[in-house]
Amino acid sequence: MDKIKIVGGTRLNGVIPISGAKNAALPLMIASLLTRETVTLANMPLLADVMLLERILGNHGVDYAIAGKRTGESVDAGRTVHLTAREIVDTTAPYDLVSRMRASFWVLAPLVARCGEARVSLPGGCAIGTRPVDLLLMALEKLGAKLDIENGYVVASAKNGLTGAEIDFPKVTVGGTHTALMAASLARGTTVLRNAAREPEVVDLADCLIKMGARIKGAGQSTIEIEGVGSLFGARHAVMPDRIEAGTYAMAVAMTGGDVLLAGARSDLLQAGLDALVQAGASITETNEGLRVTRNGAGISPVDVTTAPFPAFPTDLQAQFMALMTRAKGVSRITETIFENRFMHVQELARLGARIKLEGDTAIVTGADHLDGAPVMATDLRASVSLVIAALAARGETTINRVYHLDRGFERLEKKLRGCGAEIERITAAG
Ligand code: UD1
Repeated sequence: MDKIKIVGGTRLNGVIPISGAKNAALPLMIASLLTRETVTLANMPLLADVMLLERILGNHGVDYAIAGKRTGESVDAGRTVHLTAREIVDTTAPYDLVSRMRASFWVLAPLVARCGEARVSLPGGCAIGTRPVDLLLMALEKLGAKLDIENGYVVASAKNGLTGAEIDFPKVTVGGTHTALMAASLARGTTVLRNAAREPEVVDLADCLIKMGARIKGAGQSTIEIEGVGSLFGARHAVMPDRIEAGTYAMAVAMTGGDVLLAGARSDLLQAGLDALVQAGASITETNEGLRVTRNGAGISPVDVTTAPFPAFPTDLQAQFMALMTRAKGVSRITETIFENRFMHVQELARLGARIKLEGDTAIVTGADHLDGAPVMATDLRASVSLVIAALAARGETTINRVYHLDRGFERLEKKLRGCGAEIERITAAG
């Protein structure tokens, strides 16, 4: 297994290109199941999760073609891919694939909407606490799907198609909103989603569905109205920039000090995260090319944050912000309200000298003068990148094991950081 070695203490200076968003790319790819025609997605990130989803969709009959680079196109430009689901050859998504990536469970919605049947493995356990799918199933049931659980699989059927309905989500769910949007787009009649997720990735999916012929009003607000249509068409869509990747690098710059342009990043996608960074002592300016993040002067100030659905502070930046706070001049409280047990990074950060105490859903972080490099282990995607941030500021060398978690969600991480002066390298396992 590959490792990443980081020698801390260097300020970051330069330009980091922000990739297309993983959490938008995945539902957009899944939406290609809704039509016989080709969906073309530009600005696609090259990530392990994207490649795994290619395989899963291929199993259902989706042809996947990657467009070649054009002359003059930068290596940093995302890929363009064409997805064509002319025939759905298999409506089963097996355990060995779904268990490796939760979001692949979302194929349930387009499969049952288009084919009237689907058999999708329950996603199973996950490193960040129990992550149920009851609300996704509730939404599909409201739309008229008949659901059974058989041998660990959800078996859905809607022989005469789905029917529009009123769906009130008792809790904001991104995956629930994505699946309801896809299913309702092909249902007969009108669907109203209440307490829908307002995350920018939901808006990106809705924009693409609208290009495919769906009639959706209100994406980005709590109430979304969908007028079902008989069929959807092909479309071309560019994946939105990754706000979590942008926020992560912004936190890295706040940690090390320096001056970095996050090319392609947008502040409107990340306001709560940027506000916390400014309070911590970073300066952020929006330019035509992206966001410029600097921290030159005094140290890092302690800031309390609480994660909550968009537009509040995102849970996917909680671990990274905690890494930053380990060097703050004082005590900060970081409260996680979305996922239970999303604190696996705490123990690993402690190995670098961080002082963190857990009290229920809150981590109390007492800033330390310095961190010291150590061998640590990546436990999940966001936790592992928090270790990178801490290591960039630690004295001496840190080796991060199990970096396959990083490859799931961060495109060319070492290259992007090395381009800004970081001492970081990947040690590839022999064989
Ligand atoms: C998505 C993101 C993930 C992010 C999360 C919250 C992708 C691929 N993943 O995950 O990176 O951390 O949003 O912003 O886009 N819940 C239920 N029942 C359900 C579904 C969810 O109780 O049926 C709960 C979850 O346990 C959690 C909360 O709702 O407590 C939010 O989860 P949700 O928004 O659905 O997360 P994902 O869509 O899985």
